[in-house]
Formats: sequence, C-alpha cells, structure tokens
Amino acid sequence: MDDGVDVELEAWLESRERFEPPGEFVEQANVTDPSIYEAFEENWPACWERAADLLDWETDYEAVLDDSGAPRYRWFVDGRLNAAHNCIDRHVEAGRKNHAAIRWEGKRGETETYTYGDLKRETEAFGAALRELGVGEDDVVTLYLPMIPELPIAMLACARIGAPHSVVFAGFSPDALATRMDSADSQFLVTCDGYYRRGDALNHKGKADRAVRRVDHDVETVVVDRLGGGLPHSLGDRQHDYDALVTAHRSETVEPVARDSEDDLFVMYTSGTTGEPKAVRHTTGGYLAHVAWTTHAVLDVKPEDTYWCSADIGWITGHSYIVYGPLALGATTIIYEGTPDYPEKDRIWELVERYGVDVFYTAPTAVRAFMKWGSDHPESHDLSSLRLLGTVGEPINPKAWKWYYEHIGGGSCPVVDTWWQAETGGMMITTLPGIGTMKPGAAGPPLPGIDARVVDADGQEVAPGEAGYLVVEKPWPGMLRGLAGDDERFVSEYWEDYSDPELDEWAYFAGDGAKVDDDGYVTLLGRVDDVIDVAGHRLGTMELESAIVGVEGVAEAAAVEAGGDLLAYVSTEREQAADAVLRATVTEAVEAAIGEVAVPDHVVFTPELPKTRSGKIMRRLLEDIATGEELGDISALRNPEIVGELRARLAGETRSYLESDG
Ligand code: WTA
Repeated sequence: MDDGVDVELEAWLESRERFEPPGEFVEQANVTDPSIYEAFEENWPACWERAADLLDWETDYEAVLDDSGAPRYRWFVDGRLNAAHNCIDRHVEAGRKNHAAIRWEGKRGETETYTYGDLKRETEAFGAALRELGVGEDDVVTLYLPMIPELPIAMLACARIGAPHSVVFAGFSPDALATRMDSADSQFLVTCDGYYRRGDALNHKGKADRAVRRVDHDVETVVVDRLGGGLPHSLGDRQHDYDALVTAHRSETVEPVARDSEDDLFVMYTSGTTGEPKAVRHTTGGYLAHVAWTTHAVLDVKPEDTYWCSADIGWITGHSYIVYGPLALGATTIIYEGTPDYPEKDRIWELVERYGVDVFYTAPTAVRAFMKWGSDHPESHDLSSLRLLGTVGEPINPKAWKWYYEHIGGGSCPVVDTWWQAETGGMMITTLPGIGTMKPGAAGPPLPGIDARVVDADGQEVAPGEAGYLVVEKPWPGMLRGLAGDDERFVSEYWEDYSDPELDEWAYFAGDGAKVDDDGYVTLLGRVDDVIDVAGHRLGTMELESAIVGVEGVAEAAAVEAGGDLLAYVSTEREQAADAVLRATVTEAVEAAIGEVAVPDHVVFTPELPKTRSGKIMRRLLEDIATGEELGDISALRNPEIVGELRARLAGETRSYLESDG
C-alpha cells in the first residue's frame, strides 16, 4: 500500500487488540442488552424458551429440559412441530409468499430465485414424490448433491414428511457414500447427473451408481438433471428422474407432519477419532430452536436481510447457517455453487455487491486467501451493504481478522468468530455483536446459557491463561442426541473423560484445547484428539492414515495439518522405492476411501516416523516441523535423529509452498 493514510490506518489496526461494536450496528442490533448473560444464568434452563419462542409449535412443550437420563438429555419435552412449516409455510401464511427465500448463483453464472411460495410448492411436490417411492416417517433419505437448489428443497421435503435426511458432501467418494448409506440403513438416495468444476462437467451419477452397487440393500435413486443434457445419462432400475417425479406430483397438498421435539431432523456423518465416521443425530425441536436463536442473536439476521454463508451445505455449517437458521427467520439465503476465485478473484465481492448482502459468514481459510489475493479485489466493489461479518471452522489469527474487519467490513461491521461443531448443532462461543468487545484471535465468551469451561486432565478448571481441555458442562438445545446405532460410542467419545457419573455430573468433551483469559474470553488452541480441520473441512487422521497404509509398500503414515495444508508423512517398507508411482498411489487411495476433499497437499516420504519411547507417533512434532515452529519438548522422542531428516525432506517437498506463503 503506497498511500500514507492507509499505512497509518493499517498501523493503527495492527496495534489494536480490542474493538468495540460500531455504534451504527448497535442501534439496530437484534440483541443489545448486556443483562442477557445474567438473565440466562439466573433463569436456566427456562432461558432457552427465548429460543423456542422463535418457532411455531403445533403442540406446546411440557418442560424445557428433561435431564433425568443424562447425558441423554431431552429438550422441549413433548412439544410437537415441523421444521419445514417453520422454515417455509409460516412465512407464506404471514403474507410473505413472494419474498425471496433462496437466491441461487450457479457456476456458469446462471441465477435462480425461489420465493417462500416456490419453496412450499416444490417441497410439497417432492415430498409427495418421496412418499410415492415408499419413504415413510423416520426413513433416512441420503442426499448426495452439489450446491444446487434441489439440495435444500430435498432437505425440506424430507423434513416436511418427517423423514430424516443424511447429506453426504458431493466431494466424498463412492466408498464413503456407500459406508454412510449402509450405516444409516438408508434405502433412498437423491443425487444428480453431474456438475461443473471450473469449466468441466463432472460425472456425479457415475459415483452414486458405484456406491449403490456396494450398498448391502436395494436403493431407490432420484436423479436431478443438473447439466441439462450436458452429460447424457440413462436411468436404470429403481432410478427416477427428479423432474418427472415433481411434475407428476405438482399441486398436491402435503401437510407438514407434526414431529416430536426429540424426533430426528437429520443425521450428519462426521469424522471422529477412529476410522469409522460417526452419525451425529440432531432433533427437530432443540436443534431448530438453537440455530434460529443464534442466527438471530449472533448473525443478527432480520427477515428483510440477504444473507450469505459461503460454506457447503454438505457440512454442518451449511445445514445450520445456510438452510435451517436463515429460513427459520424468513430471510433470503444465498446459495453459491462456485468457487471464490472463478472466473476472477473478485467473485465473492462482485456477488456481495450485486445481491446487496447484509451479513457474510465464511471460514478463516477463505479470509487468508482473500488477504493473499490483495485488497484491490474487494476495493473494486461497493461493499457498503454489509453490516456484519462472521467466521467459523478454525481459529482466525489477528492479522487476518483485522484485514477482514478493515478491507471487507470497512471498519463498520462487527466480526463474530464463532466456535462450534457438528455435534453442538449451532454456535456456542462467540461475542454477541451488539454487546461484546471484540478481541481478534479469541472467539469470545460462551454465549448466554452455554456453560463452557477449560479444565485439566482431572477435570479441574484451570487458571486464566492456562491451556486445557474445552468442555461444556450444562446441556444446550442444539446438542447431538446421540450417534445413530452406537450409544456406547456416544458416551465414551463425549461424556466419559471429564464427567463424574456417580455424582451425576456430566461434562461434554469437545476434543479441542483452549484457554480462557481473565475477561472470560476463550481462545481455541486446536484439536487435541485425532481429528484435523483443513480448509474448513473436518477429517479424521485415522481415516486418512488407514487409507494410506492400505497401499502396498507403505509401512506407516501420519496425517497432520500445518498452515491450512494437509500433510501426509509416509514411511515405506524396506524394498519399496518412494517414487512418483507410490506417491500417486497414495493420493488415489485417499481419494477412493474418502474423496478428493481429503487428498493431502503434500506427501512427505520418510525412512521412519518420529515416535515416543512408548511407540506413539509424535504428531505435534510433525506439525511443528511443517510450520517451522520451534520444537517443543522432544525428550520423549525415541529417534531424535529423524528431525533433521524430516526437515530436509519436507524442504524438498514443499519449497514452493513455503515460498509462496512468505
Ligand atoms: C474447529 C464446524 C477455532 C474446532 C462448525 C471444532 C474452531 C471443529 C472454530 C468442528 C473457531 C470450529 N475457532 N476452532 N471459531 N470453529 N472450530 O464439526 O476444532 O466441522 O472442534 O464444525 O472445528 O468442526 P465441524
């Protein structure tokens, strides 16, 4: 930057550690009274009625919380409601039939708008079609679709008829899809012919077909024609054309089925510490109340807003904050099929300007990319419609936070750094934008009613500033209700380490390390288990490593995240040459087992992996070597001579990446 004023502003921003919510924002914010923290604490758990009040209930709940079966909590007990009614019908009934619900922007610049009236019509027709195929209440419907309008329509059609959906990210492989369909005993699949990536048409149905062949039971498949003949496809047995089905059921009335609060709205597979992904169960009442409330209180969304979350609907962020949260509030939600840098690196800002986006929610990895691409891109667009910015998925470093605040928010939009997980359903730790001072790098205090703490290995709360394990002591409405088909794992994975079952004291363990400052702000320090977050995607190291060690000639593998990249350190068996062929085989194995999303950015071959005397791979050390950080305590390392070797090999492998990142 060569302009003196900007240099000063930059220096000022750089020196600041705290930012107050901008006055203009506070004036119009949904939540502005700081006493909300106390009010929630004093009136817990009844405080959560405030979230439930954002919804329409067909039958009122009898109690806010039933903790008698802890840690199997029940929320809004005996209430009945329907999520599609809440996200669609009630807005139509309120006279907002012609209000835009979804604005879709396709990869080739195609645009479509669905009003709330359109969504009602489409979810009725597709709901009727699913019923005709045999989908009944509580049957799991798997959705394997890219970011096209039929994805949220199918989700809401399922919700309408009381069938839980299981969305499998389109970048997952046929194997990964088949495993999930088997595990959920899902007999219905909605997919599409293909989709575009950059200029090319990808054959998606081919992947779905391969998966279906591997599933243990028969599957009825619905195929959306995304490419309009761009990639001719044919339908086989038990395969149905989406358009034909919907046309056949046009103008049928399908009343939303009243569901119990605790009935499943969906399952979401997520990576855990073992090779098997877990099916996190989310319920109709608690989940929907939690996401509606946080969309209102944290994202400050109003019914008249155009709101954009740039995640993929295939992950939890898209479920909660592209589909359910904003639609429950009656807002306009943007669904963008493309990537941020295609056709040009100003794509996001061009769309923000064109749609007049009020609130924008993205991942820190995207912010870092925007920063790298330079401020000219946002500066070439009018971003004055923006009122609030958010991030999720990983810590945002202060430099990126400040860049986002200044160059995207123009210094007048609060930035909320929101910590949460697939398991929590919705946001848990962040500032309330109309109230809280922002401290770049720290997510913020736990939200009102959320009892998050940092404890040591014995479950004792640690002193301010000390690192420990992040736990949540009181239950919350959006919490997972279990892992489908695996109650034992539900308890052992989340509720065993820091709870005291004998005293009936339960603490949910999030898998993250954290510290709390004197002011109660929580700084996240990354996963402490075998899960890694890469580019906003959550992957299990076990899944990755077992795919890699399955390759002939590979002895051991360790997957780590460093600087936003995924690295696989691979040791080979004695006779095996670590050559380009092996490298390609490793990559292919990961792509086949999980999907392209999990393909490592770098594969580093090494004679052996760094191990402790007890034989555990020292992942932390591998991370430190990759980021160039000073190594922590390595006294437990059995083979210290490997450090120099790893550094040399990594330098050879990643020279270009280290240089380009500065
Ligand atoms: C990480 C995504 C730091 C964390 C919604 C968590 C974060 C995992 C933040 C969940 C944040 C999420 N700061 N780390 N603001 N938000 N994480 O299930 O490690 O895909 O456990 O949910 O992402 O990833 P998941």
